Amino acid sequence: MQSASNRRTFLQAAAAVMAAAPLASGAAVPATATLSERRKLGALEVSSIGLGVQNMSRTYQTTVPNRPEMLNIIRTAFERGVTFYDAAEAYGPHEVERILGEGVAPFRDQIVIASKFGWNIDLETGQRRPGLNSRPEHIRQAVDGMLKRLRTDRIDLLYQHRVDPQVPIEDVAGAVQDLMKAGKVRHWGLSEMGLQTLRRAHAALPLAAVQSEYSMLWRGPEESVLPLCQELGIGFVPWSPLGVGFLTGAIDLNTRFADGDIRKVEPRFAPDNLPNNLALVELVRRWAWRKQASPAQIALAWLQAQRPWIVPIPGTTQMAHMLDNIGAGALRFTAAELAELNQSVAAIHIQGARLPDAVLTFSGVEAPLK
Ligand SMILES: NC(=O)c1ccc[n+]([C@@H]2O[C@H](COP(=O)([O-])OP(=O)(O)OC[C@H]3O[C@@H](n4cnc5c(N)ncnc54)[C@H](OP(=O)(O)O)[C@@H]3O)[C@@H](O)[C@H]2O)c1
Repeated sequence: MQSASNRRTFLQAAAAVMAAAPLASGAAVPATATLSERRKLGALEVSSIGLGVQNMSRTYQTTVPNRPEMLNIIRTAFERGVTFYDAAEAYGPHEVERILGEGVAPFRDQIVIASKFGWNIDLETGQRRPGLNSRPEHIRQAVDGMLKRLRTDRIDLLYQHRVDPQVPIEDVAGAVQDLMKAGKVRHWGLSEMGLQTLRRAHAALPLAAVQSEYSMLWRGPEESVLPLCQELGIGFVPWSPLGVGFLTGAIDLNTRFADGDIRKVEPRFAPDNLPNNLALVELVRRWAWRKQASPAQIALAWLQAQRPWIVPIPGTTQMAHMLDNIGAGALRFTAAELAELNQSVAAIHIQGARLPDAVLTFSGVEAPLK
């Protein structure tokens, strides 16, 4: 049996371990962490980490998050320095813009709202129809709907969600320019576009940002998109910066996804590919220990270290995760550390496509010539 003094020593030691223990999923970042760094996307200034709100009406696991708590996360993010919120008419559809509009209403003028048009969504009902729709008249009407749902008179950063193979990008730029003249849009961007379309769009109406998938898990933009953004002076916003949760350590060999969770049909998360691909999670975990950070913070800080005009938008429906993610703003790699980490990431060859073919077919598309 333990003596009283042994027990006291044990409790003291346990308390010391707890005090030194990481707070949120392995992070040593204090719960009071705030984000003070600002970055430029073209001429648009935003916090160095944003908040992706896509899942605030329905999570990847297909559950419905508690709405008051989503509003709380949106508002707490602002109190901690986040000024960049990423939505789209397709999220929900429509419902996420309503949640964001309600959440940011008290401080709307102090933040940047990004939203996106381009999927073929019924303007009234929000029903998703097959394919895309970037016809100029549809864009104008879609933006009017966004403004109502977001409770605002302007979208700070309006993206075309995917290139419409039926509509020349110059016509899309013309519609956006008209919206800018009317004061309804401030800046614009493209998502997952082809390279020539990016050049043509920027020539027609200068872009602030490109938003495409980029993370330690998917490094596709490094080859051509990032160099072109650099050449044209366009900022880059990586979507799924945490590898859709993979890089946080939330997925292991035995993880199987719910029906309706997109990750179920992403070949990179197929049971056959997980054993190989989890080497990347091991690498991130090792760096998390080394830097006294969480895996999510390593993934986000790595992205930020690649270029000074990269602004990740991690998505979350959990307060602790949002706080964990903004803690990445304080994490820095030395030049030697970054070179070592980049080399280790590059040495891991991810097996399996990032998206199913039916979704990938919308990426890298070139708009028709005018
Ligand atoms: N342009 C496009 O085509 C496109 C496509 C996809 C996404 N996006 C945008 O990018 C944003 C982010 O992408 P994403 O949500 O797909 O992927 P992500 O940010 O890479 O990962 C989100 C997942 O990670 C979990 N997570 C977040 N922070 C965590 C942390 N600190 N520790 C552990 N788990 C954490 C989230 O679950 P919890 O909710 O449980 O935290 C969620 O399952 C979206 O909200 C959206 O705005 C754009």
